[in-house]
Amino acid sequence: MKHIIIVALTAICLASCSGVVDRPDIIPVPKEVAVLSGEFVFGRTVKIAYTSEDLAPSAQYLACDLETVAGCKTELSPVWRNDDILLALSDDNAPEGSYSLEVTAKEIRITGNGYSGVVNGIASLRQLVYEASLNSGDKNISIPVCRIQDAPRFEWRGIMLDVARHFFTKDEVKQLLDVMAFYKMNRLHWHLTDDQGWRVEIRKYPDLTEKGAWRHFNNHDRKCQALEKSEHSLNYRIPEERLIVHGRDTLYGGYYTQDDIREIVDYASVRGIEIIPEVDMPGHMLAAIGNYPWLACGRDLSWGKLFSCPICPGKDSVIDFCKDIYREIFSLFPCEYVHIGGDEVDYTNWENCSACQKRMREHGLESPAELQSWFIHEMESFFNSNGKKLICWDEGISGGLSETATVMWWRSWSPEPVAKVASEGTEVIACPNATFYLDYAQDSKSMGNIYDFDKEASATFGEDICNVIGVQGNLWTETTPSEQRMHHQIFPRLLAIAELGWSLPEVKSFAGFNDRIQSHFAILDKMGIAYRIPDLEGFYDVNSFVGSANLELSCQDKSARIFYTADGSIPDMNSAEYTVPIQVTETTEFTFRTFGTDGRQGDICRTQFRKEKYHPAVQAMEIQPGLSVEWYDYAGDICTGIESASFNGKYIVEDVMIPEGVKGNIGLIIKALINIPETGIYTFRLFSDDGSLLTVDGALVVDNDGAHSPYEKIGQKALEKGLHPVELRYFDHNGGLLSLDVLSPDGEKLSYEGLWFTGK
Ligand code: ACM
Ligand code: ZN
Repeated sequence: MKHIIIVALTAICLASCSGVVDRPDIIPVPKEVAVLSGEFVFGRTVKIAYTSEDLAPSAQYLACDLETVAGCKTELSPVWRNDDILLALSDDNAPEGSYSLEVTAKEIRITGNGYSGVVNGIASLRQLVYEASLNSGDKNISIPVCRIQDAPRFEWRGIMLDVARHFFTKDEVKQLLDVMAFYKMNRLHWHLTDDQGWRVEIRKYPDLTEKGAWRHFNNHDRKCQALEKSEHSLNYRIPEERLIVHGRDTLYGGYYTQDDIREIVDYASVRGIEIIPEVDMPGHMLAAIGNYPWLACGRDLSWGKLFSCPICPGKDSVIDFCKDIYREIFSLFPCEYVHIGGDEVDYTNWENCSACQKRMREHGLESPAELQSWFIHEMESFFNSNGKKLICWDEGISGGLSETATVMWWRSWSPEPVAKVASEGTEVIACPNATFYLDYAQDSKSMGNIYDFDKEASATFGEDICNVIGVQGNLWTETTPSEQRMHHQIFPRLLAIAELGWSLPEVKSFAGFNDRIQSHFAILDKMGIAYRIPDLEGFYDVNSFVGSANLELSCQDKSARIFYTADGSIPDMNSAEYTVPIQVTETTEFTFRTFGTDGRQGDICRTQFRKEKYHPAVQAMEIQPGLSVEWYDYAGDICTGIESASFNGKYIVEDVMIPEGVKGNIGLIIKALINIPETGIYTFRLFSDDGSLLTVDGALVVDNDGAHSPYEKIGQKALEKGLHPVELRYFDHNGGLLSLDVLSPDGEKLSYEGLWFTGK
């Protein structure tokens, strides 16, 4: 009951009591909460009533959860007397999904706008009950007397799950839906097909699943197997139950029958979640093309430089196939929106295909991008005539997008076309990869970047933010073969997405979220969610010290145990356990691993403590402000060897950046002298997508190398006042990100003005 401060029994709204009355730890934070004195105690039997037969499924769902968590029996009835919990539909005209939850000592009443409002109220009640259950011991569960008034900010609060790269079972998907509902998320975007697997039964084309759902191990599967070994982690183990023996072959995969799909769609709908199917086309279709080769332009089914060969939009038979697929999809999914994909299409075959060229001539299309756009328009008419609205990835904009299509913005590096169509009234769902891709490794900034996405959204859309209908986290599963790994990638980021999507900016704060999340770690544990234990704090990737250093660790998840080694081996629960700060007197490499209360492993974390002397400055006679950048047309995957590629040009820039106009396969070598204002230990935060390497005075300070998604690494160096030579190497293949912040010994970010010089 630590969160409850008793206030007078008068109704007190958030505006007047904010900061005075503590709140329950509900995520996403509600609009208005008043905690009053007293509590509702769950007895042995709880009677749940509902005012409309339409609410019966929600009552059933609540009853099941209460039986599990509060340990009570439940009775359900559509009557109005003697109930403990009453579910009702409101008749005011608040937005769909709004609800009020009133808890008195005698009764709990949830009034929702629409079915979704009632399930959102149930989600808040479930959270009160779970939170209470953490500390209730053997006693009956009791929750505080309170009033909550709440409404969603965005209509679309989604998670995308890719089940094509690795299959997830019905139960695994249902558990995800359950937790999504707990956090008031209301869209599961289900990526059902891709090059690596077809997961939805289509009766007209049975080979799509009979053959297309099964594969020999591919490169990603082998990568998972390698990671299982190198990371000592069962999370990467490919589940044996998903292997079948077929003749002499062992094949891997799985699929959902149409009955399975209906069952999952119903399960979601009871919890207020719509499932949005995606059958990705015209690219990402190899699982279909492999079994129906006539879908492609010709016989060449090989991959292009980056993407797989697409279907042929020049053939009417192929268009009919696509419509046949979607006809069955429409019959399975009652949702309003359906996602057609439309991302990452390799155009090579279309350029050489007589049917595609003919289609282009007939329709006056001037480029393959316009042919792609023609295909999406053709499919959109079909969607619309079947009562569905079409969503496509943002590539759909380039050849001309219909005004009625909805765009899913995923390419962080290309916001302009999305902002433009939003300004013209197109609906946008925001999930730019740098922030919302849940397959990307988490770092200490991931949660904050999601939470504070409002800033990026305002900068991108301005007033047209009114056309952004929601936000979504996307999990691509190339290296996510198991449920545990899926949980590890999705949680706890889902909680930040949920709060971003639901709560108004004026009621939320990241500090408040971080306080509330504490009890949610325990709740997730109770729900059997193998969430990722947050990063350890108290050190960088490379730490510099002069004399000795005090290594003091902390973890946001207080229940996590920390084990470590100093010999490079991966710690397990038999290694040394961190309990008090470590005094470091010599250069040491530590490897840490956290473990959850259930013994599950956190990420492996390596850090180096370097004993140094302050490195002397260099003398430079003639210098000018700025950094020199050499641009090479480099297609490699590491930062060494950039200079062996062809040289494209040289620039002087005022701060670390990718110079304007530098695009495509980029290799940069940036050289400068850094002007250190005072002797001390300086910190370098290097953020890049893809790889980067930073040396100072010839010593490697930050190694952020290799092909990777946006990621920050941080290193330190002990430097004397004056000039020090710096070299920064960077590469990227497809629109990248690069920044470097230099922090003073006090942790202040140094301004780039007066910081960077080059020799004349
Ligand atoms: C995507 O990540 N290709 C939508
Ligand atoms: Zn073709």
